[in-house]
Amino acid sequence: MEIYDLVVIGGGPGGYLAAERAGHAGLKTMVIEKREFGGVCLNEGCVPSKTFLNSAKVLDYANHASNYGVKVSGIATVDQKFVVERKNGVVKMLVSGIKAQLKRNKVTMVNALGEIQGRVEGGYAVKAGDQTVVAKRLIIATGSMPVVPPIQGLKENIEKGVVLTNREILDLTEIPNKLVVIGGGVIGLEMASYFSSVGSEVTVVEMLDKIAGPTEKEVSKILQKSLEAKGVKFNLGCKVTAVEGDGVVFEREGKTEKVSADKILLSIGRRAVTQGVGLENIGVNLERGAIVTDDRMRTNVANVYAVGDVNGKIMLAHTAYREAEVAINNILGKNDVMRYNVIPSVIYTNPEVGSVGETEESAKAKGLDVKCVSIPMTYSGRYVAENTALDGVCKLVINNKTNTLIGAHVIGSYAGEFIVTVSAMVDLEVDIENIKKLVFPHPTVCEIVREAIFQI
Ligand code: FAD
Ligand code: NAI
Repeated sequence: MEIYDLVVIGGGPGGYLAAERAGHAGLKTMVIEKREFGGVCLNEGCVPSKTFLNSAKVLDYANHASNYGVKVSGIATVDQKFVVERKNGVVKMLVSGIKAQLKRNKVTMVNALGEIQGRVEGGYAVKAGDQTVVAKRLIIATGSMPVVPPIQGLKENIEKGVVLTNREILDLTEIPNKLVVIGGGVIGLEMASYFSSVGSEVTVVEMLDKIAGPTEKEVSKILQKSLEAKGVKFNLGCKVTAVEGDGVVFEREGKTEKVSADKILLSIGRRAVTQGVGLENIGVNLERGAIVTDDRMRTNVANVYAVGDVNGKIMLAHTAYREAEVAINNILGKNDVMRYNVIPSVIYTNPEVGSVGETEESAKAKGLDVKCVSIPMTYSGRYVAENTALDGVCKLVINNKTNTLIGAHVIGSYAGEFIVTVSAMVDLEVDIENIKKLVFPHPTVCEIVREAIFQI
């Protein structure tokens, strides 16, 4: 059996980046992917959804062009077939880029199911299609899949194609008249934003009393209002109890209601993929369905690491990237640990949301002595120049004891791009007085951070 320094199972962001970094460092590396390299992120997640959302943004601009003194004759509409074709082109280009990077770094790519067979002398036996190799070390990066709860009628309607997950909805070539979204989390909101822009009647049914899960309350409310202004209807505090061929049944304060639908999106969370990987053959510990890892991405089994969604910590592509680097650095004998408190997140709705660190609520729950400042985005000249809906905010959370920023929450244009600026300030624990001395280019929307800092 051929011996590899490292075998990576799963070719998504966690897996491909780990393999790339390992190959670059001179390790003899194999990466095994059962479907498409690029994983969920490139093929049916981050990239396809953002391609869709960009088309919606262009459409929104075209239909509101007169607000900016631009005359457009007639109503702009979307060519959904073209949107899907364009998305496929974007995915193809990026996936081939990843494969080229892996090749450049001398990584062996195998397109097959990867299964750990057990321990052998010198490592672990791994089956990759019709070959079995020995891995001195293993990285499990098998990702996640949608949660499908035992709701009456759900499975049957998935099979009938009435209920869609992220995979199918991002291949939809026809715009449904009525789309019901189960779950007002990130996937649900991004898809609600897209489909409402392109003409669907969208209804979201969410179990909690707010949308966007852990998002800062003030920001979450503004996002809800913005989406409502686009026509999205929200049913909050409503638990789905059944799915029928023509709609979704839910309970509101003990009473049963039904909302009709042509298509239904199921987006109530994701779970780690741990089946069919052979984890039981070497005794990898799981907790609540996900692989248990420490801050160096080590599992309980020597020389076996797990990165990305499969460890169930923070299911974001950039978390997977960083975890992959931490794992490789530890394999290479470098001291590197994963910190989860400063991972930015972005919701790519229109308007978009950028968040990092503590919210006012989470900081107070931890007993931290904090002050908060929240200012309207209209403090930014560029924001006012470029928008007509001017309801965005920027909220900062400051630790009084250390006089540093510990959280930032922004809703408005480019928030997803400039949140990294604030992340750096939070991560590097820069003193507020030093932040005040930083020069921001003018006019930029990012200047809102500087404005907010001076309001403290
Ligand atoms: P995955 O990307 O899930 O990759 C795992 C790979 O392993 C898959 O390709 C799978 O086929 C393969 N595999 C599984 N088992 C085996 C096996 N036994 N043998 C071989 N191969 C196997 N995150 C963001 O940061 N930003 C976003 O904008 C964003 N948008 C998203 C939009 C949607 C609709 C969805 C669903 C997710 C989105 N995410 C986003 C989350 C992001 O896609 C994931 O966090 C990321 O893909 C996780 O990477 P991963 O490598 O852990 O797993
Ligand atoms: P999610 O966890 O973000 O949201 C799921 C929502 O469904 C929650 O608000 C929950 O309360 C609700 N819910 C659960 N059961 C329900 C029920 N029976 N009836 C009604 N509502 C119910 O999960 P989602 O949207 O599926 O996304 C999965 C993950 O993918 C995200 O957590 C995120 O990690 C990642 N993602 C990231 C994106 C980004 O970074 N922009 C975009 C899309 C996904």
